[in-house]
Amino acid sequence: MAESMKGLKRTCRCGEVTSAMIGQTITVMGWVQKQRNKGGIVFVDMRDRAGILQVIFEEEYCGNENFEKAGKLRSEFVIAVTGEVLKREGASNDNLATGDIEVKAASVRILSEALTPPFPIEADSKTKEELRLKYRYLDLRRPDIQKNIMLRSRITNTMRSFLCEEGFLEIETPILNKSTPEGARDYLVPSRIHPGCFYALPQSPQIFKQLLMCSGYDRYFQVARCFRDEDLRADRQPEFTQVDLEMSFVDVEDVIDATERMIARVCKEAIGLEVELPIKRMTWDEAMNRFGSDKPDTRFGMELVDVSEVVKGCGFGVFTSALENGGSVRGITVKGQAEMPRKKIDALVDFAKGYGAKGLAYLSVMPDGSYKSSFAKFMTEEELKNLVAEMKAEPGDLILLAADKLKIVWSVLGALRIEVAKQLDMIDNDRFNFLWVTQFPQFEWSDEEERFVAMHHPFTMPMEEDLPMLETDPGKVRAKAYDIVLNGVELGGGSVRIFQNDVQERMFEALGFTKEKAHEQFGFLLDAFQYGVPPHAGLAIGLDRFVMLLVKADNIREVIAFPKVKDASCLMTEAPGRVEDSQLEELYLSLIPVEE
Ligand code: AMO
Ligand code: AMP
Repeated sequence: MAESMKGLKRTCRCGEVTSAMIGQTITVMGWVQKQRNKGGIVFVDMRDRAGILQVIFEEEYCGNENFEKAGKLRSEFVIAVTGEVLKREGASNDNLATGDIEVKAASVRILSEALTPPFPIEADSKTKEELRLKYRYLDLRRPDIQKNIMLRSRITNTMRSFLCEEGFLEIETPILNKSTPEGARDYLVPSRIHPGCFYALPQSPQIFKQLLMCSGYDRYFQVARCFRDEDLRADRQPEFTQVDLEMSFVDVEDVIDATERMIARVCKEAIGLEVELPIKRMTWDEAMNRFGSDKPDTRFGMELVDVSEVVKGCGFGVFTSALENGGSVRGITVKGQAEMPRKKIDALVDFAKGYGAKGLAYLSVMPDGSYKSSFAKFMTEEELKNLVAEMKAEPGDLILLAADKLKIVWSVLGALRIEVAKQLDMIDNDRFNFLWVTQFPQFEWSDEEERFVAMHHPFTMPMEEDLPMLETDPGKVRAKAYDIVLNGVELGGGSVRIFQNDVQERMFEALGFTKEKAHEQFGFLLDAFQYGVPPHAGLAIGLDRFVMLLVKADNIREVIAFPKVKDASCLMTEAPGRVEDSQLEELYLSLIPVEE
């Protein structure tokens, strides 16, 4: 039976008791981690978010009634204990912050009893994630996940303080918005009052923060919840949090400067990491050519090498036909892996195919200088020698080559480089390599939509010198857009915005919007820009990803209290769920049956 807390007041948390408190009488409250009954003495480990504390019960000290209660304690009971802090008898426990003290209980109250939890509440859980997420409220009691969630709170706070100190105002923007066609798929919310109309949840506060600049707020930030109906991955959730900011009367340099000082402050305060400023920068072109990725992991080498020139006239049809079709032949050299077993190479070929490769050509430069290769028989000794030299391969090395359209070659080798590095344990997990990637292309061609789409978003300013190409050669236009990358993960991104109506109209045109469509979708923004708009720029950091990387979690779910799984459902609440017919009626909705 549960007892009340009446007349008791907690004096500190369990994990906050220190040897400086020896001799004091304290009252602590928390969960029973473990109870051991050693005949005349009962040991209880009490747990709260601050840590674990050993409590001892001796009958002659606490009396018969309390001693009997102590004997009944089970894991996860919630109890209140009053007692004296003592130096721990016997060996101290170095694994606990409170390992050199214990509390000799004078009294105990059982505030709440508990069922046996479906998995142990302890760090380094071996429990399947599905079960953890079904009982997330129990999982969240585990110390390692509590550490993540508490650190996340501190990180958010640090960013808030930093931005406030720098003159940013925290302003909330609406969650119920109008659907816009660009970007990811929207989450829609039907309107009851406007039959057939829908709100869209924000993918980001982009337009509102730009309007706030128009309204003269000068510097804005928000810890903003964003919603995107995308395919989920380890670093993607359908709802996630951005630390979103926007600044007036600034250019690229100002946003980069403020952001990197904020990042450095967070890293220092959260994990004691010194980030060297300024953070290195690389143009998008350089990132793609060297790493095959716009978010390069620079913790290891194995950079891409372009061998198109070297293999131009060779006898291997795969290479020459790719080049004749306007493609490229590039590769990576894997040090010391000439003798990689065929099976493993085949697995890499399959991996490459997953990224759109038609195949993957390999050449082992054997320690004796001979070759083992999928294509050597099509090439002369001279051609092979030149290829090996260009790839800077030495005896003992393995060369992997992809021939295709450049976009595919980049994507294949960019992914392969990471995969090989992971397999061969080439990545130093103690490093935090930050990198700015700048000068992104303004557009990318969408085969699906058969038009150019904005790579960042339609409000991004092109580089001044590229503006004339907006109509003549949109594919070549570079944007004043920048991403901040950490260890191969896109941490945040932003851009300088278009603030001139004529440029914005040209942009919509380049994106294939008719004037009417642009005005229908973004009319209020275009209108606002007619009433005096400051040049402005901004960026958003993915808070979940930032915390994930700082705690070295391999999944974003480890730093989100109540995350969703791959199919965008919540295993605990079982959202999304069906609703009553009456609710649908109220919204003027009817369902189309799904064919199984
Ligand atoms: P962008 O779309 O690049 O920019 O988003 C900014 C950052 O948000 C994080 N992020 C995500 N995190 C978890 N799950 C997701 N599904 C997800 N999608 C994005 C990433 C990303 O870098 N309005 C612009 C910013 C601007 O231009 O100011 C924007 O939203 O870390
Ligand atoms: P094939 O002529 O199809 O037997 O291919 C010969 C070798 O070239 C095999 O190792 C293939 O995996 C490889 N290969 C095929 N297509 C490509 C490509 N687009 N890029 C690189 N290697 C390829």
